[in-house]
Amino acid sequence: MCGIVAYTGNQPAKEILIEGLKRLEYRGYDSSGIFIANNSSPYLARAVGKVAELERQVWNSAPDGAAGIAHTRWATHGKPSEVNAHPHADCGSKLYLVHNGIIENYLLLKKRLQEAGHTFKSQTDTEVLAHLIEANYQGNLPAAVQKALMQVQGTFGIAAMHIDHPESIVVARRGSPIILGIGEKVSLAASDASALAQHTDKVVFLEDNEVATLEPGKFTITTLDNRSVSRGTTNLDWNIESMDRGSFPHYMLKEIFEQPEAVENALRGRVNHAEAVAKLGGLESVQDRLLQARHLIIVSCGTSYYAGLLGRYVMETLTDLTVETELASEFRYRKLNIRQGTAVLAISQSGETADTLAALREAKRKGALVLGLVNVVGSTITRETHAGVYSHAGIEVGVASTKSFTSQLTILTLMALLIGRSRDLSYEDGHEIIRALEQVPDQIREILKQAGKIRELAEKYCHSDHFLFVGRKFQYPIALEGALKLKEIAYIHSEGYAAGEMKHGPIALIDPKFPTLALALEDASYERVVSNMQEIRAREGKIIAITTEGNTKLGSLVDDLIYVPRTHEAVAPLLTVVPLQLFAYYCGVLLGRDVDKPRNLAKSVTVE
Ligand code: F6R
Repeated sequence: MCGIVAYTGNQPAKEILIEGLKRLEYRGYDSSGIFIANNSSPYLARAVGKVAELERQVWNSAPDGAAGIAHTRWATHGKPSEVNAHPHADCGSKLYLVHNGIIENYLLLKKRLQEAGHTFKSQTDTEVLAHLIEANYQGNLPAAVQKALMQVQGTFGIAAMHIDHPESIVVARRGSPIILGIGEKVSLAASDASALAQHTDKVVFLEDNEVATLEPGKFTITTLDNRSVSRGTTNLDWNIESMDRGSFPHYMLKEIFEQPEAVENALRGRVNHAEAVAKLGGLESVQDRLLQARHLIIVSCGTSYYAGLLGRYVMETLTDLTVETELASEFRYRKLNIRQGTAVLAISQSGETADTLAALREAKRKGALVLGLVNVVGSTITRETHAGVYSHAGIEVGVASTKSFTSQLTILTLMALLIGRSRDLSYEDGHEIIRALEQVPDQIREILKQAGKIRELAEKYCHSDHFLFVGRKFQYPIALEGALKLKEIAYIHSEGYAAGEMKHGPIALIDPKFPTLALALEDASYERVVSNMQEIRAREGKIIAITTEGNTKLGSLVDDLIYVPRTHEAVAPLLTVVPLQLFAYYCGVLLGRDVDKPRNLAKSVTVE
């Protein structure tokens, strides 16, 4: 969603800000803008569409000022247009501001400001902040920002500049991330650490209701009510290479191909072979409470929710926990049975998803042990949970989750192993899981060799208007994930179903033009999935099956087959999801979709 970059230092800000915006493009946006404080002539430019459009204007006309703020906007209030793009200015065109989040009481504030004589140009909620700060400004920008934000309801991450103080940038946050990056004679701020990585590894995470003032190479922090905050910098271990596409045409394809390493990284140092158990350092501080837990609720959204669904099957198989999975966006509306012994696990790639964050805050309020399984280091969810595990998938730039999903599945299996081995999971069974997990990277490498064949299948099927994905038990969440990938990347309507549910309704849709992808591994559900496939075949539906290597029994029941290596049934989803990701990817490419940045989607969904 929206992205912020701010820079004050000793080099032309325009290059650093445009580069930063490009790093944020993956989050999804529809317009962008930049402000450069330049003593004689401050510069503002805004453009609809890609950052490249803004860049063109900036190269033609921007001055070399050494401080500025920039933004990518994902429209919420007011359509994508130049006038609605950030930065927004006050009436006197002295104060410029960019904002992520939503100002809930903006209509009331706007009315008051209009009555006081302020004139508005845009339809955004953000512009209210520019005028509100102007109304409170008496020569001191941080003080004006504090006073203004005290009147605001809603969420914000902001960066503001005033032409009276061209080297200072004031940032603030509530519910929307802001990270400071401090280097030698330069200071930066961004909503996403990836925009800072090239410049410094020294960062400071701003907390909710804090305001920071940046000058070149230094910063100060206060609370909104002006108490000073002392906080040192944290060193972040960036992996800049993982932010480049290399020879891959798209980030999504690169990230699909990075899954063997992602699984290796998720496993590294986390297995104790001698005891056939997992070692999860991030959970050690709460291990006693976790191992005594009787009830686990997993909360998450989208692909992370499907990881949670699968986590439930795995946890129920390997432990005696009662496990529920809940969409984070629904969590707060249920009467939840959080009792002593309840743990809540929030799963999130970005660590910033607003619904997941709200759910974990609710669980914490109710006394649950709150854990996180997050990819982005230092993100808000990691800082609000009692303890957690990083998925170590590396930076995921493609909007669609791929490698972060397989990393999540790996860690959920390790968590189940940890808990299961403290209960009645045997040493042999524990070992079998570890062996299976350790084979996954090479098995994924084998599957990736079939990319050419999967592309041919995409050529054959990508013009279908609809698609059905079916699977049972461990493969049911993979059916859901396969359908989600196809709809978000290729814009093909697709549904994921538990195979046994077909006959309760969806089978009415089946005809020769409505293909089904069936997850039909030779596991305990095999015979029943085959029966469901026969029901589809009897209605002349086309079937692509994913099955176990060496299975020659499907014959004429299917139109096309993809094989995956044989493994433990609880680990098999780590394999079966890979061809589905490739299938969605190739369908998207063949249909001319923007696979790394599908329309209407954002990498990090910071609004509820
Ligand atoms: C799908 C996808 C989304 C995210 C969802 C949750 O490919 O990427 O469905 O999984 O928005 O995001 P995180 O995991 O960052 O909380």
